[in-house]
Amino acid sequence: MPQKINRLVVIGLGLIGSSLAKAARDRDLCNEVIGSSRSPETLIKAMSGGVVDRVVDQIEDIASELGEGDMVVIGVPTLTVPTIVRQLQPLLADTVTITDVASVKGSVVDTVAGIYGKIPSQFVPGHPIAGSEKSGVDAVNPTLFDDHRVILTPLPETGAAHLAKVQSLWQGVGAVVTDMSVTDHDEILAATSHLPHLLAYALVDTLSNMRENQEIFRYAAGGFRDFTRIAASDPLMWHDIIIANDKAVLSVLDQLTDHIQSLKQAIVASDSEKLLGVFTRASEARNHFTKMLENKAYLEPMKQTIDYRVTPGGKVSGEIRIPGDKSISHRSIMLGSLAQGVTEVTGFLEGEDSLATLQAFRDMGVVIEGPIDGRVVIHGVGINGLKAPAGPLYLGNSGTSMRLLSGLLAAQSFDVELTGDASLSKRPMERVAEPLRKMGAVIETEEGGRPPLRIKGGRQLRGIDYTLPMASAQVKSCVLLAGLYADGKTSTTEPAPTRDHTERMLSGFGYQVDRQGAMAALIGGAELAATTIDVPADISSATFYMVAAAIAPGSDITLLHVGINPTRIGVINILQMMGADIQLLNQAEVGGEPVADIRIRYAPLHGINIPEDQVPLAIDEFPALFVAAACAEGQTVLTGAEELRVKESDRIQAMAYGLQTLGVDVEPTPDGIVIQGGAVQGNIFGGGTVDSEDDHRIAMSFAIAGLRAKDSIVIKNCNNVATSFPGFVALANQAGLKIVEEKR
Ligand code: S3P
Repeated sequence: MPQKINRLVVIGLGLIGSSLAKAARDRDLCNEVIGSSRSPETLIKAMSGGVVDRVVDQIEDIASELGEGDMVVIGVPTLTVPTIVRQLQPLLADTVTITDVASVKGSVVDTVAGIYGKIPSQFVPGHPIAGSEKSGVDAVNPTLFDDHRVILTPLPETGAAHLAKVQSLWQGVGAVVTDMSVTDHDEILAATSHLPHLLAYALVDTLSNMRENQEIFRYAAGGFRDFTRIAASDPLMWHDIIIANDKAVLSVLDQLTDHIQSLKQAIVASDSEKLLGVFTRASEARNHFTKMLENKAYLEPMKQTIDYRVTPGGKVSGEIRIPGDKSISHRSIMLGSLAQGVTEVTGFLEGEDSLATLQAFRDMGVVIEGPIDGRVVIHGVGINGLKAPAGPLYLGNSGTSMRLLSGLLAAQSFDVELTGDASLSKRPMERVAEPLRKMGAVIETEEGGRPPLRIKGGRQLRGIDYTLPMASAQVKSCVLLAGLYADGKTSTTEPAPTRDHTERMLSGFGYQVDRQGAMAALIGGAELAATTIDVPADISSATFYMVAAAIAPGSDITLLHVGINPTRIGVINILQMMGADIQLLNQAEVGGEPVADIRIRYAPLHGINIPEDQVPLAIDEFPALFVAAACAEGQTVLTGAEELRVKESDRIQAMAYGLQTLGVDVEPTPDGIVIQGGAVQGNIFGGGTVDSEDDHRIAMSFAIAGLRAKDSIVIKNCNNVATSFPGFVALANQAGLKIVEEKR
């Protein structure tokens, strides 16, 4: 912990200087706060407002007295900084820490270097990203820096002790301190702050120069007001900033001017595709950014962690519609983007995983409208129409996005990098890199075949006949999608049937796929034709309600319009083998996928040896099925399911830990688990705290266990439920569970 500052001298008592002085004084961060300003009036206000302990008229009066433990903050407008540094330089001892708050760092650093002949180790350049259109000591606000960023741009010459003191001052007034280089700072601020101010001034000035401006301003409502709030900021300050950061400002201004020119041409040419493209991308980016700022998190870690507290007991009933199928939602965006024409999707899953895929295609230039209430309109760019994204594609928690995209992207003309969150960054990717390399792709992974994946562009792929070493729909889909671009025929042969949504949807987009038993093949080079897609409810998400009804006496629930593709119904088969009462009603086929309403009523369950051929057909449903097995009479044995160990968590281990905590007798094995079922009647689970290990399906499985628990169950780390099942808690409570979200 650095020592308390002795004397803090703030030169310039504008909004930032006076707020820092008062915050430091209020929070007892220094022995004395001394203020200096050119304006006698400001000094009087600073004293009477309790901003400082004392004031000095002339900085010379105090500078030579300062020494070890003291700090000077230069809080004057950017272009006045040289005058102050020139005054200070002959007087200040080299033990005094000097920092500044100017919005441009390059010009300040050059000034200091010029006057001192070098960068003195006592100098720590800084910039608090706080402020408002209000200025001066009258606007003093000691909470101005709370949770705001302060950027420090220390130089190689900057002394570590001086840096630590400045960091600790800013942290002490509530700020979050970040270090960055001077150049990065000035470029970033030019784009995010200096340019917007310039534009706000320009727009207001343009409008006020129009002859009829009185009339115009009378009608200037929301848009004008929102856009130009910052044009009321201190003109001198912004003049200084723009001049001091001219190069970086000019560079972003050039880019914006080009962009405005191209929009102008689009308007002239009535090019709605272009306008819609720019607007949807920008609107999405702005939304994403708002959510990040609010820590609501779309594809970003949330600031607050969500835990579930489940009150024991209850049953489930009613008719509910579960959100859309995740696998089909991903594929609808991918194929819709690569098709020619406009694809309309309804029932799209607005979960973070499928939104990650959607965002990735937006990043590659595809115009995608929505989602609004599950409706997405994709303006396909054709099989060769994707553009290089500006940076790495961030795929959050979504293994499906990364594995399927790697196939598509292996054949593009551009390089691309795929990244993900902590869980995805641990998952095996060699399983897709290996067949893609056989096809001629160039892909680098991190050690152990983990993400990020770096894919080289400009490779012509060749078709292969690939026999999958494991039953994986993601690997199969990856190879087939790469095959769209490959010379000749690409075929996959799988060791056991896995979900076939890719094959079905390719056919729906008019692409010929030959399927014979375990083999699927296509010939590269054809086009996809846009279509409409009705995404059924996700049977994997429906599973939690099916198991809930199967274990809670008195339950009777109907789940509407659920996908019952034969490659996905392992959960129905297994529950029926265990004695569950399940009926499939209103069976139909929509867009090549079978659907039904699933009615499930409570009936006592018994343990079984789960047939291995059901494992790939129920691969995502095992965490919930383990809860069913715990509530069944007798023993349930699962084998042949080692894939569960490399899902969003090691699902065998995570479920075994949690079930044991709740008092269930389970024994994990390398490829499965043995579960001793409890009594047919009464409570199965004790209460307690279990950890979802950031895995959505583990979290939801333990939530339904509450139906047969003796005491409350607390489930830690449930944020990722949003990846596959937005609104899970509300829907669960509507059906009869009692779950409360607790934030910490
Ligand atoms: C999926 C395939 C499965 C499944 C995942 C979604 C897909 O993964 O677990 O949730 O959409 O293709 P594997 O291919 O790794 O088995």
